[in-house]
Amino acid sequence: MELIDRIRGARLIGVLTGAGISTASGIPDYRGPDGVWTRTPSAVNAFTLENFMADAEVRREFWRSYTGHAAWRAEPNAAHRALAELDGSGAAVRVLTQNVDGLHQKAGLAARKVLELHGTMHTTRCTSCPVRLSTTEVLERGEDDPRCPECGGILKLDVVLFGQTLDGEVLGRARHVAAASEVFLAIGSSLQVEPAASLCTVAVRSGATLVIVNRDPTPYDEDADFVLREDIETVVPELCAAAEG
Ligand SMILES: NC(=O)c1ccc[n+]([C@@H]2O[C@H](COP(=O)([O-])OP(=O)(O)OC[C@H]3O[C@@H](n4cnc5c(N)ncnc54)[C@H](O)[C@@H]3O)[C@@H](O)[C@H]2O)c1
Ligand SMILES: [Zn+2]
Repeated sequence: MELIDRIRGARLIGVLTGAGISTASGIPDYRGPDGVWTRTPSAVNAFTLENFMADAEVRREFWRSYTGHAAWRAEPNAAHRALAELDGSGAAVRVLTQNVDGLHQKAGLAARKVLELHGTMHTTRCTSCPVRLSTTEVLERGEDDPRCPECGGILKLDVVLFGQTLDGEVLGRARHVAAASEVFLAIGSSLQVEPAASLCTVAVRSGATLVIVNRDPTPYDEDADFVLREDIETVVPELCAAAEG
């Protein structure tokens, strides 16, 4: 199979992942049929940086949505594990993830090989001073609008909200990986959130083979060399095993 040969021949494989790689771990996506925003479209508007900073009720809703969130109990699935194992089996794997759940690292991929484009839910920062805390410790306090222990400022998860720009250094490194990849896999993303989605264009313009693995169509399908509309937790381990074998 031509796709397997290309993966096998690559020295660097860039992998852009989205919420769809974690649905098999029990974390709902946003735009899939059971997605958070498909079911409650108003949730999109609530989670903008402007509303979060201005409105205590938005903050309470935000913290409520993360208390008892499925991601705290989630374990990596076969797709996370297969990508971690693919790294070092011949090719180097670098993951550029839109997810905030930390499951690539939990599956064994070194933290330095995972670029978290939209941040992480595992740490929390003060919006007024440099204080950084573990989110589980903040949640254990049980407050509905928790404040900074140093300055009383508003605390916010280290996740990128709408209206917030991505970390420039992380995005720059992600673009570098995309440009250097010979094969670029986009897995489990509706590719509707920019600038993350346009990493596909960066990869294609630099000559990478673009492979999209996603159940639903995406705006980048026509740029892809291969589009696999299949179950991620089945097809990704199959691809990785074939490429290693
Ligand atoms: N796990 C997480 O950390 C998590 C969860 C939800 C949302 N988010 C955030 O929400 C934003 C949403 O954008 P996105 O593109 O990542 O997600 P999205 O919800 O827009 O798209 C997910 C895509 O995955 C597909 N999909 C879901 N499960 C699948 C499966 N088992 N097999 C094949 N395809 C499957 C769906 O068809 C959908 O098109 C991101 O910015 C991300 O930061 C993160
Ligand atoms: Zn503070």
